[in-house]
Amino acid sequence: MSGNWPYPRWIAHRGAGRQAPENTLAAFRLGAAHGYRMFECDVKLSADGVPFLLHDATLERTSNGQGSAGEQSWHALSLLDAGSWHSRAHAGEPLASLDNLASYCRHNGYFLNIEIKPTPGAEVLTGQVVADAAARLWAGATVPPLLSSFRPEALKAAQAAQPQLPRALLLDSWWEGWLDTAKALACSALVCNHALWDAATVGAAHAAGFRTLSYTVNDEWAAQRLLDLGTDGIITDRTDLFSPES
Ligand code: G3P
Ligand code: MG
Repeated sequence: MSGNWPYPRWIAHRGAGRQAPENTLAAFRLGAAHGYRMFECDVKLSADGVPFLLHDATLERTSNGQGSAGEQSWHALSLLDAGSWHSRAHAGEPLASLDNLASYCRHNGYFLNIEIKPTPGAEVLTGQVVADAAARLWAGATVPPLLSSFRPEALKAAQAAQPQLPRALLLDSWWEGWLDTAKALACSALVCNHALWDAATVGAAHAAGFRTLSYTVNDEWAAQRLLDLGTDGIITDRTDLFSPES
C-alpha cells in the first residue's frame, strides 16, 4: 500500500440509511449519534446541474416525487418529502444537496465518501461537476472527501477536473481489466462487494497499492471475516450494531 490514508475504518452507508431515511441529513445525524465519523452518500445532478443526494435514478422509492430525478430542477426537488416513505417521525425531511452535507461534515469534522451515482447517460458531466463541487466545498480542508463510482468514465472525468481528490473504484464483480482501470484512474482504493474479497484478492490489491474497502456489511460474521483478511474499510447500514471504535 502506498500513500496516506486518513479515513476511519467504519463508514455509515447512506448516513445511517436504514434507521433513518437514507441520504438525508437525518440519516447522517443518526450515524453520528452512534459514534460514526465517516459517511457514504450517493450523489447525482438535478436538471440544472446541482449535485444532490439520491440513490435511485427515480424518485418514487425514497420520496413523494415521481419520475427521473435528473430531469427536475433542484428547486422542485428541494420541495419534496424524502422522509414519509421511511416513517412518520421523519415526515417532511427534505432531500439534501451536496452543499448541505458538506456544511454538516465540515462543521463537525466528519469524513465523507461521495459515491458518484450518475443518472444513466450523465456519467461524464456528473463526475466533473461533483469533483468541482467537492474541491470548492472542501477548499482548505485537511482531509478531502473520497470520490468513488462504479462507472470508470465518471471517475475519469473527476480525475480530469480535480486530479488531487482521492478516488476509489467500486466493484460488484472482478470484471476484465479492473486492475488496469483502477491504476489508470490513479485510484487510492477499491471498494468491493464484501463477498469478493479473499486472501488472494486482498493481497493483490494491497500489492498494487490500493486500500481495500467493502460494502455493504451488515452481519457480524462478514465484518469479522473482513477484519481477519486485513481489509481497510467497512461500509455498513448497521450503525446500531457495529461500534466504529472496533
Ligand atoms: O458506495 C458503496 C455502496 O453504496 C455501493 O452500492 O447501491 O448502495 O450505492 P449502493
Ligand atoms: Mg452508494
